[in-house]
Amino acid sequence: MAKTDHIFTCQACGAIWPKWAGKCDACGEWNTLVEESARPVVPGAFAAPVGGGKKGKALTFVELRGEGEPPPRLATGISEFDRVCGGGLVAASAILIGGDPGVGKSTLLLQAAASLARRGASIAYVTGEEAEAQVQERARRLDAADAPVSLAAETDLRKILEGLKALKPDVVIVDSIQTLWADGVEAAPGTVAQVRACAHELVRFAKKSGAVVILVGHVTKDGQIAGPRVVEHLVDAVIYFEGERGMPFRILRAVKNRFGPTDEIGVFEMVEQGLVETPNPSALFLGGSGERPSGAAVFAGVEGSRPVLVEIQALAAPTAYGTPRRAVVGWDSARLAMILAVLETRCGLSFSGRDVYLSVAGGLRITEPAADLAVAAALVSALVDRPLPNGSVVFGEVALSGEVRPAGRTDLRLKEAAKLGFAHAFAPPQKKGGAASGVKLRQIGHISDLAAALGAVE
Ligand code: TYD
Ligand code: MG
Repeated sequence: MAKTDHIFTCQACGAIWPKWAGKCDACGEWNTLVEESARPVVPGAFAAPVGGGKKGKALTFVELRGEGEPPPRLATGISEFDRVCGGGLVAASAILIGGDPGVGKSTLLLQAAASLARRGASIAYVTGEEAEAQVQERARRLDAADAPVSLAAETDLRKILEGLKALKPDVVIVDSIQTLWADGVEAAPGTVAQVRACAHELVRFAKKSGAVVILVGHVTKDGQIAGPRVVEHLVDAVIYFEGERGMPFRILRAVKNRFGPTDEIGVFEMVEQGLVETPNPSALFLGGSGERPSGAAVFAGVEGSRPVLVEIQALAAPTAYGTPRRAVVGWDSARLAMILAVLETRCGLSFSGRDVYLSVAGGLRITEPAADLAVAAALVSALVDRPLPNGSVVFGEVALSGEVRPAGRTDLRLKEAAKLGFAHAFAPPQKKGGAASGVKLRQIGHISDLAAALGAVE
């Protein structure tokens, strides 16, 4: 194995190289190689944990069945948070919470820490971002100052680990992983090498001590947690905290969870006294009550186990340029292009001379295919400048053929619509059900049925 004095680590994928190059051959990114500490390397190999070479104990195998009950979960008492985690925190696990700076990660975790501490758990909150006084000030503002949380401001990983070994907490919160540094690694805090080394040690601490380790990670401008996949691979769960600028709503979403589902969301509102749970989020995303203007359609969606009604708004304005604009907030732009193409091809509705803007109310991001029909309804309504029938919801997946496919959980969607006072639903044909909810179904088997129902075609 070649021994070199310097190594160069790709800041995008973590591959290490013996020589500097403009491009990382592992991931194809340019200008991402940064010189880091000296260690023998195999060209292109991912860095191995320090140590090794020692003879260990023989491996013992166990049965899949295991013994006894699954480990109990430690509920934070913030039910929106617990649900996203799969029903509470699992002992000896590591969670990464990512999000834009300022979205409210520190606020959420301080509230969770206080809630856990009040329930009798022992909590360590280690901040590398702020001074102790700043965290104390925030705790006062959040009415959390009396909770028995052990607070420390420190960035030296060695000191943090020593402190944690002495304290033996049930839950450790580290805010943020990018501020920590390990003295064995010759690189600046926040670089892949440091983030990886610090995360690795903290995850190891979690597994060895049985504590839950929650790491905060900042998201870079292209939407990835810095020291990107390196940390995501190391932890058991990756949770993103999202929110639109200027909107009070914050959404917690699991993107990876070894102990639970990844389609649950937790909804919060950021107010003066911190984050407030929103157990019934539909009202938030409906964009006001009363009659809706043209271009607005209410999508009866399901996020995880919970129905969520959300208003989808579309605008189709005459274009001033040769190439019309398509702008989307809260939905996939490729999916919008597909729906526009289907409306054009299957219903003869042309958007080619129009700029199309699509927005999901309240800052929610929708990923369900069942939103297709609601988007189509908003677009058609915007095009013909005629509102949808008052009190109607829409859902269904649209195929390229124009056919509308059934969406799952119809009963759940209709029940929520009925609860919020909606009387009609544009939905794919149902084999059964629908009537019990009190919502009248208007069956849409093909996208042209929708266009006809909205008066866009004969
Ligand atoms: P913060 O938790 O510091 O964000 P992060 O750790 O993700 O960077 O939250 C910062 C924002 O939240 C800040 O702009 C102010 C706002 N905020 C409130 O509106 N109310 C509050 O009670 C608190 C603590 C913060
Ligand atoms: Mg913070």
